[in-house]
Amino acid sequence: MLETAVPVFNPEQRNSHMNTNQSWGGRFAEGPKEAVSRYTDSQTFDRALYAQDIRASQAHARMLGRQGIITPDEATTLVDGLERVREEIVSGAFVWKPELEDVHMNIEARLTELVGDTGKKLHTGRSRNDQVGLTFRLYVAERLEVWQQGLSALCAEIIQRAEEHRETILPGCTHLQPAQPISLAHHLLAYAWMFRRDWLRLGDTLVRVRISPLGAAALAGTTYPLDPQSVANEVGFDAIYPNSMDAVSDRDFVLEALFDGATVMMHLSRLCEEIILWANPAYGFVRLPDGYATGSSIMPQKKNPDVAELMRGKTGRVYGALSGLLTVMKGLPLAYNRDMQEDKEGFLDADTTIAASLPLMAGMLHELQFCTTRMREACKAGFCNATELADYLVSKGLPFREAHHITGQAVALAERSGKGLEDLSLEELQGINLCIEADVYPVLDYAAAVRRRETPGGTGPESVKRQLHELHLWLSQNAAHTA
Ligand code: ARG
Repeated sequence: MLETAVPVFNPEQRNSHMNTNQSWGGRFAEGPKEAVSRYTDSQTFDRALYAQDIRASQAHARMLGRQGIITPDEATTLVDGLERVREEIVSGAFVWKPELEDVHMNIEARLTELVGDTGKKLHTGRSRNDQVGLTFRLYVAERLEVWQQGLSALCAEIIQRAEEHRETILPGCTHLQPAQPISLAHHLLAYAWMFRRDWLRLGDTLVRVRISPLGAAALAGTTYPLDPQSVANEVGFDAIYPNSMDAVSDRDFVLEALFDGATVMMHLSRLCEEIILWANPAYGFVRLPDGYATGSSIMPQKKNPDVAELMRGKTGRVYGALSGLLTVMKGLPLAYNRDMQEDKEGFLDADTTIAASLPLMAGMLHELQFCTTRMREACKAGFCNATELADYLVSKGLPFREAHHITGQAVALAERSGKGLEDLSLEELQGINLCIEADVYPVLDYAAAVRRRETPGGTGPESVKRQLHELHLWLSQNAAHTA
C-alpha cells in the first residue's frame, strides 16, 4: 500500500487539543474541526512578528498604566512578563500552539501562564484587529529599512565600479542594437540612479507605514480613555489614524511596500539580463566571477550565470505577492476581514527574496571582470561613430537628412569591406561625398564622441563626474546613517 504525506480531510474529526479557543470560546460549545484549525492557523508564519508584537504590547500596557486603566504595578507586571515571553521565544523554549491561531494569542496565553490573571488585562481597549495592524506595520517598517541599507550598499558598489571605468567605452544600445559609444561608468550609473530612486521611494512609503492603528480596537474605537498617540510615539511612529474603520482595514502599507519591492526586483532583473547577455561569448563584455556561476554537468566549456538568472526569475514571485494581495483586497467590505491574514506570507516571501538579492548583486558586481577591449571592438563593429560622421557633415553645411543618407552609404561601404568607418581611406570617403576632409578622423574617434556629449545627464566625462559627485553626496548625507 502506498503511504501518503497528504493529510486526509476528515470532516468528523474534532480538534483534539481543546474544546474551544480560550480567547474567544465563551459562546462556543465545541472547538473548530481539526482541518479548520489547520486552515486558519497563522502562527506557523506570523511567529516571525513576535518581537514587534511584544514591543507593541509593552507600549500598550504602559499606556494603560499611565491612563489609570490598569494600575502601575499591573503595567509593570505585563511589561516584564512580556519580556520573559520574548526570552523564551529567543531561546527556543517557547512552545507554539496551533490551536491558539496566531502569534498574538500564543504570546498572550503564555504571558497569562507566567504572570497569572493580570495577563488577561493586556487586551483591555484593544482588539486583534488593531493589534495585528500595529505589529505588522512595525515589522514592515523594519524590513523596508533593511532594503534601504541593501540599496545604498549596492549603490556604493556600482559607484566604485563606475569610478574604475570612467575611460572605458562600449556601445550604448537602443532596440538592443549598437547605437552610440558611451562610457561604462555612465551605463553603470544609470542603475545607481534607479536604485537611489528605489531608496527614496521606500522612504516615502515609510511615512505611511509608520502610522499606528492602535486605539481603533475592533473597528469603532473604544470606551476606555486611551492615549493612542503616546503608543505611536513610544514605538517610533509619527501619527495615528483619523478613522478607526480605515485603521483596521488599511493594507495599503503592505501593497506600497510590495510595489516598491517589485520595482527593486525589476531593476535588479534588468541588470541581471545585461550581465547574462554580456557574459555570452558572442558579447564577451564580462567574465563572471566563479563564485557566482555554475558549470554544466554535460558541456565542459559552460559557465552559466545562474545567480543572475535566478534573480531575474525570482522577480516573478515578488510581482506575485503584489498582485496576490491586490486581489485579496479588492472585494473586501469594511472593516477587518480574515482575508487580510493573507497579507503576511506574500510579504515574508518577497522580503526573503529582496533582502537576499541586493547584497548578492553587490557581491557579483564587485567581482565582475569587464573586458574593455571587447567593448571597444564592439563600438567599431557596430559603427557607433556613424552619428559623428552625420554631425560632421552637418557642420560642413549639409542638411541633416542628406548627411544621414551619405553616412548610410559610408556604413554600407565599410560593412562590405569589413572595416570600421574610421578605417576607410580619405579617397574612399570622398568618393561618397567631397565635403569629407582629413579633419574627419579625430571626429570619428569613439572616445572623442563620448567626450563631446556634455549635455546635462550626458555620457561625457564632466557629466559623469557630476553624477558621481551627486551620488557620493547622497550616500554620505542620507544613506550612511541607515547603512
Ligand atoms: N491572525 C490575524 C491576521 O493576521 C489576526 C487578526 C485576527 N482578528 C480576528 N478578529 N480574527 O489578520
